[in-house]
Amino acid sequence: MNLILLGAPGAGKGTQAKFIAEKYGIPQISTGDMLREAVAKGTELGKIAKEFMSQGKLVPDEIVVGIVKERLKQKDCENGFILDGFPRTIAQAEALDEIMKEMGKKIDAVININVPEEEVVRRIVNRRICRKCGAIYHLLYDPPKKEGICDKCGGELYQRDDDRESVVRERFRVYRRDTEPLIEYYKKKGNLLNVDGSKNIEDVKEKILIMLEEIKA
Ligand code: AP5
Ligand code: MG
Repeated sequence: MNLILLGAPGAGKGTQAKFIAEKYGIPQISTGDMLREAVAKGTELGKIAKEFMSQGKLVPDEIVVGIVKERLKQKDCENGFILDGFPRTIAQAEALDEIMKEMGKKIDAVININVPEEEVVRRIVNRRICRKCGAIYHLLYDPPKKEGICDKCGGELYQRDDDRESVVRERFRVYRRDTEPLIEYYKKKGNLLNVDGSKNIEDVKEKILIMLEEIKA
């Protein structure tokens, strides 16, 4: 299955993408994670990306499209993939259509996770991520067993630089302006699936799973 996960910052895209990736044995392609890795390594791309990310702005389309295009050509994407955080603008969505056409593939479903802004801010300011394996935690809703330590690999948990409240508000504003129009874009194409993301993690997982099983059938 070739899937897209849409949703505001903190809606739960990463949490659900990891679950879907594991369940169906397909790679999670998170542009946010790829960019953060480039920033951590201090590559040329990372230096450019950091300027935008730290302010809650989008990294320019041509850069992100280039990264995704290369990633989708890799062998592990042959049997499907789940895009997390891409596309994020109409221009990126059109570029993806073009890439899919060139590769002779199509997007099977676009899962849109809906969560109100106040809940999203609450989720993000209490999020912690494992530096080693990328596992996602929430101090209240999904805490690690031992404070500051990843349950899965023992790695150190950290808070993202762009998870400060002022930056989160800007990310949300950018989402509203640039990304929300994609809901209409995919609705028109007829492959949009809406999920109420304000439910707990397990309920959201279950809802997504039921919808995906219907598509597969
Ligand atoms: P990115 O990393 O994609 O960030 P984002 O879209 O802002 O989304 P988040 O990762 O913050 O949230 P999420 O939806 O994954 O939620 P999560 O599962 O972690 O992008 C970061 C930056 O990179 C952008 O601002 C931009 O600069 C750049 N960038 C990336 N892609 C780009 C692109 N395509 N074009 C241009 N620039 C790009 O969950 C959040 C928290 O809530 C966690 O603590 C989790 O445990 C908890 N939680 C999850 N689900 C639930 C639930 N159902 N109930 C309770 N708690 C929950
Ligand atoms: Mg994420």
